[in-house]
Amino acid sequence: MNFPPRLIVLLKAAERITVLTGAGVSAESGVPTFRDAQTGLWAEFKPEELATPSAFRRNPRLVWEWYAWRRKLVAEAKPNAAHIALIEMEKRIPDFTLITQNVDDLHRRAGSVNVIELHGNITRTKCFDENLLMTTWADTGEVPPRCPRCGGLLRPDVVWFEEAMPEEETARAFGRSANCDVFLCIGTSSVVYPAASLPFEALENGAIVVEINTEPTQLTGKADYVLSGPAGILLPELIRTVWSDGGF
Ligand code: OAD
Repeated sequence: MNFPPRLIVLLKAAERITVLTGAGVSAESGVPTFRDAQTGLWAEFKPEELATPSAFRRNPRLVWEWYAWRRKLVAEAKPNAAHIALIEMEKRIPDFTLITQNVDDLHRRAGSVNVIELHGNITRTKCFDENLLMTTWADTGEVPPRCPRCGGLLRPDVVWFEEAMPEEETARAFGRSANCDVFLCIGTSSVVYPAASLPFEALENGAIVVEINTEPTQLTGKADYVLSGPAGILLPELIRTVWSDGGF
């Protein structure tokens, strides 16, 4: 792709970059997105039956098993060229923050360091009653398994609809969005709040906002630059163009 020359200059000069990623970044690893018309999870499954506390109370086994299936899927997936490009960007930028809505752990597995997980992480498990993380429990064959401390049911450590966002992560995400030179919004439909307001927070505070997506979103008309195409192709190309230092 021929990137706008001004964007290359801005990225070269940037000292503070904040990135927000969504499910589109993991699409090329074979992890399904949520809202893509044919292949998105919410085209096949109903969020209110699987991703709310009341769904878990109603049918904990169904919810646990759905997440167990997704946990296996992401464990078998590998970070793709977009995840790897973001590590390369982190190495080159003094003040770099990666905010992700993804629960698949692929950014960390790729090697990203400064990651804010806004919606939790599917590889972690916590107690539904006590909200405490649990790393081990007795394998009694019960589904879901029970908390070894209180006997409550265990659940994935992800944010469900109707649940509060993690406070510290959300505050840090807003802070890093309001204090950056360039904000990159990659592979998210920008419809789930508060994550969807982060690029607007960046815009209001004078950052240059760049969107990378295969489809238009509500941000498309507002972003300073829109790069249309798959993140796994565009991000490595962009990084090679900006930092042609032979290291990547
Ligand atoms: P969505 O499924 O809503 O959006 C994925 C976006 O990625 C869409 O805009 C696609 O056009 C774009 N996309 C697909 N493939 C791409 C590719 N190869 N390169 C670049 N872009 C691509 O996923 P999110 O925006 O992440 O929340 O969804 C936000 C939240 O809604 C999720 O974190 C999840 C879901 O309900 C919770 O589970 C709390």
